[in-house]
Formats: sequence, structure tokens, C-alpha cells
Amino acid sequence: MKVKTHWYARPFPNNWEFYSTCEEGNNIDIAIKNDENTAKIAPNPKEVILQGMAACTSVDIVSNLQKMRQPLQKLSVECEAIQNETLPKVFKECLMTYKVTGENINIERVAYCVQLSFTKYCGVSAMIEKSGCFITPKLIVNEKEIDIWDPENKISNKLQNWLQAMSKKAPSGFVLVTGSSRGIGAAMAKQLAKEGYAVIPTSRSKINFDHENIFDSLYLDVSNSFSILNLKEFLKRNSVKLNLLIQNAGISSLENSDDLNALDLNFSEIRHVYETNVFGIIETTRVFQEIMNQNSIIALVSSTMGQPERDSYLNASYRMSKRTVTQFAKQAALQSEMENKKISIISFHPGSVKTDLNPGGKISVEKSASQIGELFSIKNIHDIYKNNGQFLIYNEKNKTWDPSY
Ligand SMILES: NC(=O)c1ccc[n+]([C@@H]2O[C@H](COP(=O)([O-])OP(=O)(O)OC[C@H]3O[C@@H](n4cnc5c(N)ncnc54)[C@H](OP(=O)(O)O)[C@@H]3O)[C@@H](O)[C@H]2O)c1
Repeated sequence: MKVKTHWYARPFPNNWEFYSTCEEGNNIDIAIKNDENTAKIAPNPKEVILQGMAACTSVDIVSNLQKMRQPLQKLSVECEAIQNETLPKVFKECLMTYKVTGENINIERVAYCVQLSFTKYCGVSAMIEKSGCFITPKLIVNEKEIDIWDPENKISNKLQNWLQAMSKKAPSGFVLVTGSSRGIGAAMAKQLAKEGYAVIPTSRSKINFDHENIFDSLYLDVSNSFSILNLKEFLKRNSVKLNLLIQNAGISSLENSDDLNALDLNFSEIRHVYETNVFGIIETTRVFQEIMNQNSIIALVSSTMGQPERDSYLNASYRMSKRTVTQFAKQAALQSEMENKKISIISFHPGSVKTDLNPGGKISVEKSASQIGELFSIKNIHDIYKNNGQFLIYNEKNKTWDPSY
């Protein structure tokens, strides 16, 4: 992809005016007012970015609705951005409003197309989001505002019925598990249901657990702050209060990066791993505090690979991320205690487990989940309150979860 921008070489005072060429297609004009009294004749550079983002997501919506043979008549996407006060004035927030018109258009399908574009396909919004801008999508279909994640309130209605049923069938309370589409997270969701929890599994890809104590998996990408806030708001609207939040979502390194070591690391590798393993955990903890019950627990899945006794030059970004998680649990627990929040925060090591992340793991996901089930079983839960802030490891010999010193 290659574009070239040329100055029109017009004398001052005029707009500062440019035209931009691309490899194929018409030129576009770009202009910036150089004094209050001149009329602006074209979008400024940042407006071009917003126009590009609106066009990029519009392509996804139009193409997918056409493939679904939906009677789309009109589509507009408005992007309203707020910039930082200080230089460089980057976007800090953006409201992206999709307005869709079509007689008899299927609302669920429209919402699904917006979801897909926003979470998967739209490269421009993903780039802007990665720069730290908080993007909020809003959908209006035939002049009515629609919840993108629950367009016909089916999930809310189902959740309400399930919550009611679970109040009698889940003596251990409600647990939400992140990254439960596979590996330890999926096995843990099943095990916690056996331990008498009502489980809300969350993931980026939908999976079916087929167990009455496990609700449908809800969408959560922990590397996306909108996704975290949106899920918390949805659960809050439905009066969900959690007894346990297990933050399990994690990655080892960028695909194809071949486990870079400390002296080979670059920004994108570090950012990629930290966005999920560290920032995702910190942001989820901050946002989800609001829906935690009194005397509840936030448990962070860390790893002994982040502990000093396992130091090695290999897998630097992963080790550093897990060391940070363990320290964050300590810091957060100390603050929670100081402020009498009645939330215990711990981190723990799930064992060396054979999964996509660790194909050479020594134990099965079922074995790891069964040990984790012990840790959070009603009979042991008081030990966690005592271990606030600690990093816990399973002691195979004594069959106990012990703090690592
Ligand atoms: N396996 C081990 O030996 C071992 C040892 C110590 C610690 N751990 C930790 O245990 C946790 C689970 O690991 P695992 O071995 O089960 O790995 P896994 O099989 O690769 O599963 C990782 C899970 O995290 C999810 N995930 C990744 N990025 C996410 C994001 N941005 N938002 C939401 N979910 C995301 C994945 O979901 P998608 O389907 O969306 O990708 C998947 O469900 C990780 O935190 C890992 O660091 C594992």
C-alpha cells in the first residue's frame, strides 16, 4: 500500500492545502485552516483517519449483510472523536454510531455484522484502539437503538432465568472465568461447576459447555478495554454479583516470534504479550471490582516461570509478564486490605499443563483443574482469605496449596 501527498503550493494566506494520490483511484484533497477567517475546503488529516475508519467498518457491514442477503437500504457511520489536550493531540475517545435502514432487515444479523467488524475485521479501528483510544460502538437500526451484543435481549432473559435457577443450585456462588474457550480455562469452568459454583465462562470464541451450572460463554477480549467495560455493564444491568473472578486468559508470545529472548525483544512483542497477560488483568480487576460480592476473591493465573527461582534467559516477555501479575496481586491485595474492600486477591500457578500454550506440559488440563477446584472449594475458601496477596503453588507431596516465599 502506497500513497503520496503533495502540497498545492498556494500562497499564504489560504488553507494549507494538499492533494493525496494512491496507487489506484481518485486523488483526495486534505486541508487545514491557517486562520480563523478562511473557509476550510477539505477534511484535515485527522478527519481523513476517521473517514477511513468509518469506511473500513462500513465495508465489513455492507459486504456481510449482502452475503446474508439482507435488505440493506442505507448505512452511515458517524465517528465523533475527542482528542488529548496536550501535544501530540491523539484521539482519546471515539463514539462510532452505525445507522442502518432496511425494511424487514434482521436486527440480530445487523448486530452480528457490527460485532464482527468491531472485534475481528476492521483494521483501522483496531489500529486506533491500539493507540489507546477508547472506541464505543453504538447501533441504530430503523431509528431504534439496539444492543450490539444482545440485540433482542435474548441473552439477558436467559441469564435472568439461569440466575434464578442457580440461586438454589450453586452453594458456592457465582464465578466468572476469563479465557475459558480451551486449555486450563475450559477445564476449570467444568470443574468449578462440579464444586457447586454457577459458572459464567467468557472468551473470544463461543463454545458450548452443555452443563446446567455453566451459562453460555459471553464475549470478552481482555486486551480490549471496551470489551471489559461492556461485559461488566451487561452483568451489572442483570444484577450479577460475583463470589470469584478467575483471570486465566493468557498468551505466551506473538505468533511466529519464536519466543524472543530479552536482548531480541521489540515493542510489538512486549506490547502484544502485556496487553493480554498484564494490562488485561489489571483493567479487568479495576472494572470488575464493582460487581464483586462482599468477601469475594479475585484470582490471577500466574506462573512459576515468573518466579526468581526459575529465572532463565528464555521466553523473556512471558516470564516478565507473569512476574508483574504476581506483584500486581500483592499490590492490589494490600490496597484492598487498607481500604477494607472485602475482596481477597491472590495469584496462583496452575501446574505445568499440557495445552496449546505449553505442548510439553507435564499434567493434563483435568488434573490441573481438579487441583484448582480444591483450592476454591467451599471447605478451603477461608485459606484464601488468609493468603491475601500471596502467590500459591500446589504442593504435590502434601496435596495442599501453599504460598511461595
Ligand atoms: N499450560 C501451562 O503449563 C501453564 C503454566 C503456568 C501458567 N499458565 C497460564 O494459564 C493460563 C491458561 O493457559 P493455557 O495453558 O490453558 O493456554 P491456552 O490453552 O493457550 O488457552 C489460553 C486461553 O486464553 C484465551 N485468551 C488469549 N488471549 C485472550 C484475550 N485477549 N482475551 C480473552 N481470552 C484470551 C484463549 O482464548 P482464544 O480462544 O480467544 O484464543 C484461551 O481460552 C494462561 O494465563 C497461562 O499463562 C499455563
